Amino acid sequence: MARSLVVYESMFGNTRAVAEAIGEALAAEVVEVSDAPDVLPDDVEVLVVGAPTHAFSLSRPATRKSAADQATGALVSTGRGVREWLDTLAPIGHHVTAHAFDTRVKAGWLPGSAAKAIAKRLRALHCTVPGRPTSFHVGGTLGPLVVGEPARAAEWARSLPARSRT
Ligand SMILES: Cc1cc2nc3c(=O)[nH]c(=O)nc-3n(C[C@H](O)[C@H](O)[C@H](O)COP(=O)(O)O)c2cc1C
Repeated sequence: MARSLVVYESMFGNTRAVAEAIGEALAAEVVEVSDAPDVLPDDVEVLVVGAPTHAFSLSRPATRKSAADQATGALVSTGRGVREWLDTLAPIGHHVTAHAFDTRVKAGWLPGSAAKAIAKRLRALHCTVPGRPTSFHVGGTLGPLVVGEPARAAEWARSLPARSRT
């Protein structure tokens, strides 16, 4: 049976909370990026990938180190990031509809988004990416999520096209 998979990276737990809201809305399996498969199983037809925006894009080892230095509690993602996962994921040989999201600080003057970088990589892996990369907002670097964002994430997930060959 076709299934949906949500893969996330998260330093302080905010992106994980968004991923869980999306997973619940889609009845999808939700996995932290270090546990994500290196070859996407054939029965996964919908893939949703999310990560925190770091330095205007996906995290790198240096930005994750900076996050670790700022953390007040245990980090969620302690291994690879979504950038490293997508860069090693085998090109996908079956049809997959994919969607990208990120979390970032709500500030109009801050450019850049991890979700845009995710969408670009998903297309390079031959996924169909029908929607626009979407951001969910945190109040500051450590969070918390802006009030209402988990509900908006669930609504976003329910609105996603499950399958598109366009
Ligand atoms: C090193 C570092 C760089 C960051 N750079 C940006 C940025 O360029 N733009 C932005 O909006 N937020 C930036 N942030 C804030 C993160 O997006 C925020 O920490 C993240 O959304 C929290 O999600 P998480 O709890 O899942 O890690 C940065 C955070 C860190 C730690």
